[in-house]
Amino acid sequence: MEIISNPTQVEIKKAAQALMDGHLVAFPTETVYGLGADATNRKAVSRIYSVKGRPTTHPLIVHVSSINQVNTWTSHIPNYAIKLAKEFWPGPMTLILKRSHLVGEFITGGQDSVGIRVPSDPIALMLLTEFEKLGGSGIAAPSANKFAAVSPTSADAVVEEISFKLKNKDIIIDGGSCSIGIESTIIECTGPYPRVLRPGSITLELMENLLGTIEEKAPLNTGIRASGMLEIHYAPKAKLFIGEMAQPKDGLLALSSYPTPEGVIRLASPNNLEEFARDLYKSLRFADQLNLTRIVVIPPPGDGIALAIRDRLIKASAGSK
Ligand code: TXA
Ligand code: MG
Repeated sequence: MEIISNPTQVEIKKAAQALMDGHLVAFPTETVYGLGADATNRKAVSRIYSVKGRPTTHPLIVHVSSINQVNTWTSHIPNYAIKLAKEFWPGPMTLILKRSHLVGEFITGGQDSVGIRVPSDPIALMLLTEFEKLGGSGIAAPSANKFAAVSPTSADAVVEEISFKLKNKDIIIDGGSCSIGIESTIIECTGPYPRVLRPGSITLELMENLLGTIEEKAPLNTGIRASGMLEIHYAPKAKLFIGEMAQPKDGLLALSSYPTPEGVIRLASPNNLEEFARDLYKSLRFADQLNLTRIVVIPPPGDGIALAIRDRLIKASAGSK
């Protein structure tokens, strides 16, 4: 495995060629690092599942360089989804759309829909553009962590999570820390109304500003598999408690206005919600590096990205009873 730091365009071309040749490339996005493979290459995609230890029934997101590439992968895009795509792509949003017959079952976990995202990170976009120039049509990429573990928001975290499972010709691109720090908002767009499956920094409020009030009219479809449907996810090794009083030797993540009790190890002191999202996975990972046994997180109140942060916290703490 090769690690490429602050890549030049030539190095990104090389990474695009590695993808074309069936190798894996971990790359930064504005949300979290992804573990990429050519989305049309069954063998390469199956390696993603084995590196992550992820059940093959969990579908992957296909990343493309622009909205113009989406038609290859989908059979129908509702008008509201076109509006969302035009407004929020490139950016931290994944649309679940009816898949075209070109999409392999090995991407969708056997479902008749496919997740598509155009990321805004410049390295991710350049990688996609170079990959498409070589004839590629999309990069399948889940977060570059072991199944159910904390998503990586830096190249070091990718190394820690999966490097021992990567092969000689696989590549990790180091593009620094992710600017958002939690995964994309996933919006199901297969019915008459959009439905948020995983909250993120494209908030319901932003969606409603664009589309008008979104009523939760669609019934919950238990057949759909998104992160939100898994009970335990994003989990650190330490036990995680939400909103408790931190005890000496506990790790603590809370807004900067919250004081650190005596003997407690402050993991981060974000000043606002955006910083909180950016610090979240970094702090959980830091606590594990310090071998702490307990982490207390004081959840940020309110709507918007605070909702997404609380969603991740609930799942990360689900095994910590
Ligand atoms: O921000 C992100 O979305 C990152 C970066 C790398 O793009 N990717 C990411 O991928 O978080 P992953 O695989 O860790 O989470 C994607 C979630 C999975 O839980 C998967 O089940 C869901 O999206 N998903 C993918 N395709 C789907 C589909 N067709 N229907 C329902 N859920 C889907
Ligand atoms: Mg993930």
